[in-house]
Amino acid sequence: MKKQKIEINLEVFETISELPKNIQELMAKAQQARENAYAPYSRFRVGAALRLASGQMVTGSNQENAAFPSGLCAERVAVFSAGATFPNETITDLAITVRAESHEVTEAIAPCGACRQSLAEYEQKQKSPINIYFMGETGDIIKVASVMDLLPLGFDAKYL
Ligand code: THU
Repeated sequence: MKKQKIEINLEVFETISELPKNIQELMAKAQQARENAYAPYSRFRVGAALRLASGQMVTGSNQENAAFPSGLCAERVAVFSAGATFPNETITDLAITVRAESHEVTEAIAPCGACRQSLAEYEQKQKSPINIYFMGETGDIIKVASVMDLLPLGFDAKYL
C-alpha cells in the first residue's frame, strides 16, 4: 500500500474590485441572474454567468420544481444553455454567486457535485480549462483555474 496526495490550487480574492475587469462584469451578470432564480422551496437563489471566447455572456439561475429532483442548478442551466445555443464555442470563465432569503451568505459557495461533473464534460469537449469564480452574497471570491481542481479523480468518457 502506498499513500498518495492530490493537491488542488485556488486563489482567494477579498473583494470584487480585486478581480480583473471582465470578471467583475461577469460576476455582476451572475448577481443579476440570481434574481431570476425560481426557488420557492429552498429560498436559496443561485446565479451563474459564463463567458464564451467570443466575449458573449450566457447566464443561468436555479429553477426548482414541486417534484424536487426535477429542478436544476444555476450552473447547469447556464452551461447547458451555452451548449445548446453555441455548441462550438469555448467557455473561458464562469462566475457563480448565491443569496439566501433566511440569512446572509458570507462564505464562497462552490458548485455541487453534479454541476462539477457536468462542467467537467464541457472542459473535455472543448479541450481547454474553464476558470471558475464563486462567492456568497458577500465575502471572499474563490477562483480555480479548471473544473479539475474541484473534481479530482472524476469519472470521464475515457473509461467508457
Ligand atoms: N443549487 C444550485 O443552483 N447550484 C449548486 O451548485 C448547489 C445548489 C440550487 C439547487 C436548489 O435550487 C437550491 O440551490 C438549494 O439546493
